[in-house]
Amino acid sequence: MVKASDLLSLVADNMIYVEDKMRSGISEKHKDLQSVVDYLVGAGGKRLRPALTMMAASFYPVDKDKLYCLAGAVELLHTATLVHDDLIDNSLFRRGMPTLNVSWSPAATILTGDFLFARSAQLAAQTDSVRIVNIFSETLMTIVGGELNQLFNDGHKRVPSIEEYHQRIYAKTASLFAAGTEMGGILSQAPEDQIGALRDFGYYLGMAFQVVDDILDFKGDEDHIGKPVANDLRQGIATLPVMLFNEDHPNHPTILKAVGKEYVSDEEILDVVNKIRASGYVEATMEEAVRFARQAQAALEKLPNTPYRQAMHGLADYTITRDI
Ligand code: IPE
Ligand code: IPE
Ligand code: MG
Ligand code: MG
Repeated sequence: MVKASDLLSLVADNMIYVEDKMRSGISEKHKDLQSVVDYLVGAGGKRLRPALTMMAASFYPVDKDKLYCLAGAVELLHTATLVHDDLIDNSLFRRGMPTLNVSWSPAATILTGDFLFARSAQLAAQTDSVRIVNIFSETLMTIVGGELNQLFNDGHKRVPSIEEYHQRIYAKTASLFAAGTEMGGILSQAPEDQIGALRDFGYYLGMAFQVVDDILDFKGDEDHIGKPVANDLRQGIATLPVMLFNEDHPNHPTILKAVGKEYVSDEEILDVVNKIRASGYVEATMEEAVRFARQAQAALEKLPNTPYRQAMHGLADYTITRDI
């Protein structure tokens, strides 16, 4: 098993400065806000996005303080989307800790997310690069647009096409990975073709990461992942294993009901989940994740061969072997 911590060790010492940036910038007057930001930053997470941003900036000399601001901006943006997402999804746990919406009112939770969005933009602006701020805001628009699509497409009540699935996982996950690696390249003034390669790497890695996330939802061992099996399908969201099953077995009543947002019993869900698992659709989905990871690795060939590049190559392997 590839361990993320080994691959991230090259940037691990810098993460403490990134976290300082994430916690900073709050007025003395707002003690409650400071303690909630400390709580969110303290809850941790894999820190993949800021690590990738820093690795992407490693190929050429870079202003360290600006880099910590940029990596902090990326992780704070991610954190803000999670604060709002957990309220929207009514999720009670994240990173093994209760979410804000468990103990706070919706108003306080929304406003905390808003504050984090604003602060992340301010951190991005501290790079003094209009190009970076542009990519940053565009990425936030893409993420929010994807969430809105998910809300409104619910009205379509059908299994999405592969193309729609790709758009969805780009918006929700790959867009921020790609932005992080691209902005890292820009900050370190890498040549344009290498900035493009860094963006491609982040994009394909993010796509692989989300396909695997969707597989984990299916494999789920509830205690390990901390969510019930097939949580997505229960919420009416069809991911790739369901879509592949649906191609061979169109109009399966449980799938139709689920995507139609009708009530589906636990028994019905488990029955179809077992069918999907037994017929190789999860493995077929994994092949798609492996293809994305290999494309990520191919993109790296345009970059100087350094220990950072090798760790990034390893991260693509980690993405497809991870179990959480
Ligand atoms: C969770 O992302 C949300 C998705 C886009 C799948 P991560 O799995 O990277 O979450 P943390 O940051 O490690 O908690
Ligand atoms: C992840 O969305 C958060 C965003 C990118 C907005 P999900 O709702 O699908 O992911 P989890 O399962 O809560 O991490
Ligand atoms: Mg959620
Ligand atoms: Mg959600």
